[in-house]
Amino acid sequence: MKIGIDFGTSYSAAAAVIDGEVRTVRFGQERQFRTTVYFPEAVPDLDKFELDDAMEAEVEALVRSARAEQSRNPGQARRSDLELRRDAVRAVRRQWLERQVREARASAASLQNAVYGEEAVEAYLIEGFGNLVQSPKSMLGYQLAPHVRQTIVGIAGYILEHIRLNASQQFGANVRAAVLGRPVQFRSSMGAAGGDQALEILREAAAGAGFDDVDFLEEPVAAALGHHAQSAQRHRALVVDIGGGTSDITLAEVGGAQPPRVLGSWGIARGGVDVDLALSLSRFMPLFGKGATRVPAHHFVEAATVHDVIRQRDFQRRDAYRDVPDPFGPRLIALQDTGNTTRLSRAVEAAKVELSSRERNRAALDYIETGLFQEVLAPDLAAAAEGFLGFLSELLGEVSAQIDAPPQVVFLTGGMSRAPYVRAAVQRCFPDAQLVAGDPSLGVVSGLAFAALAGR
Ligand SMILES: Nc1ncnc2c1ncn2[C@@H]1O[C@H](COP(=O)(O)OP(=O)(O)OP(=O)(O)O)[C@@H](O)[C@H]1O
Ligand SMILES: [Mg+2]
Repeated sequence: MKIGIDFGTSYSAAAAVIDGEVRTVRFGQERQFRTTVYFPEAVPDLDKFELDDAMEAEVEALVRSARAEQSRNPGQARRSDLELRRDAVRAVRRQWLERQVREARASAASLQNAVYGEEAVEAYLIEGFGNLVQSPKSMLGYQLAPHVRQTIVGIAGYILEHIRLNASQQFGANVRAAVLGRPVQFRSSMGAAGGDQALEILREAAAGAGFDDVDFLEEPVAAALGHHAQSAQRHRALVVDIGGGTSDITLAEVGGAQPPRVLGSWGIARGGVDVDLALSLSRFMPLFGKGATRVPAHHFVEAATVHDVIRQRDFQRRDAYRDVPDPFGPRLIALQDTGNTTRLSRAVEAAKVELSSRERNRAALDYIETGLFQEVLAPDLAAAAEGFLGFLSELLGEVSAQIDAPPQVVFLTGGMSRAPYVRAAVQRCFPDAQLVAGDPSLGVVSGLAFAALAGR
């Protein structure tokens, strides 16, 4: 049996067509789950420390340089060789410990107690230790050190295995084949090479997760297949999928008895998380001194970029906020506490989501400072979304200029298509088309299920 898998930046889902109907895989009560994994850190065994030859040589070197230091400063209290050696062993042991922790973090073994979705976030916030990996899809196209790449393959593999096992159990079959969605353009720091790397990582991850047959299909093409299956009348449709990480478009002739005909696809590596980042920087980070202190601007970006494990670690480990004036210094130090950048990023996203249907949002930030809160109003969000909407409108403009006849229908899917300002921007570019709202969460996965059926 072959299933469709939408491995999304923000949410993932899976489905298969059974007896002519799309059946989605349940994850708990839900038909999708947040693409987030929590795995408790494997705690290194400190009793295992033993000086090997290399470490012994390091100890010797440290003792020698401490002794030389002493003889250069004869005024200072002299310390015995025994004391110097004890300090040197302590320093070497500390380095060893750091290595152990690093290795434990990277090791696949610690992935075995993984928790997924919203529960992952909850577990992390309750436990207060371990690793929370959010939106790993955003990292696939970035320059990765070999051990980080290995970890990402492991994490993507665990997510795909989680999907495979749930699907196998619910469909009563050993699922080993899948059509995986892919954006037209991955988020990447290396141009097209980033996209190639992303596919490679996904292929390796899928193999590790027990899939022995994997195909890829562009996400908006999948959404077009889904829309085709629901359309009785033949028409020319522009399918627009606005997700968390990317915005993807396909022009296709769909509906009726003939098979769908794809005429072209376009995409940009921008989505809902870019609106979140802009909103965080404009309305939340000023509470932490952005614009009012000498803290470099990139520190605030690091704090807000929760999917980037490396940047998060840089922010959390930095010892630089003690001298930042009140109230900003103490707030920054509180933001460094485990889980607080995650809490803040959830608050920012929740504000964005709420402002799709309300005029104001109030976020309580007591975990930073008792009584602290932030109000966000509709115009604040409008300003924060401007950058993203600019890129989206530019893309839609290019599409409009490249196609030889305008679409009769614009079919919208993806979580960001729930936002009225996104729908308005799309309608502005195609004023004569009928706007059809597809299921924002399941548009892509339904189409992937049809593709899986056809590719069986
Ligand atoms: N009501 C809403 N208003 C505004 N944004 C929303 C709303 N609901 C969800 N979103 C946003 O939609 C995005 C998630 O959309 P979706 O689930 O389609 O993404 P994805 O498929 O995981 O990502 P991608 O396809 O880019 O890899 C998130 O940024 C989320 O905050
Ligand atoms: Mg998507």
